[in-house]
Amino acid sequence: MKAYINQILQGDCLELFHQIPNNSVDMTFADPPFNLKKKYHSTRDSLELEEYLHWCEKWISEMVRVTKETGSIFVHNIPKWLTYYAGFLNKLADFKHWISWEAPTAPMGKTLQPAHYGILFYAKDAKQNKFYEVRYPHKRCRKCNYLHKDYGGKKGGLHPFGPLVPDTWTDIHRIKHNKYRDPHPCQLPIHLLERIILMSTDEGDTVLDPFLGTGTTAIAAKRLGRHYVGFELDEVYATIAHNKVKQQASNSRIRNVWVSVYLNEIITLRNQDWEVLQPEFHTPESAKVIDYTKIVLKSKRPLTPTVSQQETHQETQLRLIENRER
Ligand SMILES: C[S@@+](CC[C@H](N)C(=O)[O-])C[C@H]1O[C@@H](n2cnc3c(N)ncnc32)[C@H](O)[C@@H]1O
Repeated sequence: MKAYINQILQGDCLELFHQIPNNSVDMTFADPPFNLKKKYHSTRDSLELEEYLHWCEKWISEMVRVTKETGSIFVHNIPKWLTYYAGFLNKLADFKHWISWEAPTAPMGKTLQPAHYGILFYAKDAKQNKFYEVRYPHKRCRKCNYLHKDYGGKKGGLHPFGPLVPDTWTDIHRIKHNKYRDPHPCQLPIHLLERIILMSTDEGDTVLDPFLGTGTTAIAAKRLGRHYVGFELDEVYATIAHNKVKQQASNSRIRNVWVSVYLNEIITLRNQDWEVLQPEFHTPESAKVIDYTKIVLKSKRPLTPTVSQQETHQETQLRLIENRER
């Protein structure tokens, strides 16, 4: 297994899985092609139903095979495909959650407007599964800072940072601005993967993604001091991923605690790390004012790569694609 640690392998995931031993990685995450005729750089995204499902069953069982007994399996897709995936996974692993990730999608017409993706969360063995509770910041009005939710007389019991993360995620948005995107049709936000990694792994653990795209899972893993293994069929995407990961530092931590940061704010932290992190924040002196007082970090120094660094990544990627297509 050592030979594959921190590697991005270009090729077909089913072939590459053969090289990975049983029970060897701590977490597997997959964001497969949705079979929605998306325009990938080189792969086909329009198989017949039976063919697509048969193929999905194969890589799903490979994900379970390589995951350790203490490990977790996550699969992201639209609800339609997850209903089939759950059927496959129920035979091989233990159901933990169907995470609903709020993300409005294009109108489909004559149906309810799709407004979430799903992330299936399975334990290889629920009795041995490694899991950490995580917290996210209270949702507040952007202008007045008031809490969105009215806690009435219960606000004295509120956690100063924010609630435990439930199975509905409404605080992480798809990448909206083209300047932050790679030339890939469905790149996920890094902090989505960071939340999953903080929930299910420890520092030094290994995360495997069989559909790496332009590297989101590997970048999140590296930022958080984890190892990664990524498979990607498309040579251009694999090269972009490789270049981005190379430039990424393992630096997303405060006081030796790994945290997920977005726009210079902590957006996910582990519940068990709060005591160590609390001195880093200006917290409201009284629980009475928590409904209009946001807690803020004392330090103003940037926590993770700045936007200008990300723009430089993108420029490099575009050049790479242009060179290859000449
Ligand atoms: C939905 S995208 C993943 C995007 C990724 N999560 C990201 O944030 O960049 C699916 C990816 O799977 C790749 N892919 C398709 N078939 C594959 C196969 N058989 N083996 C490995 N990768 C494959 C596609 O090229 C595409 O980049």
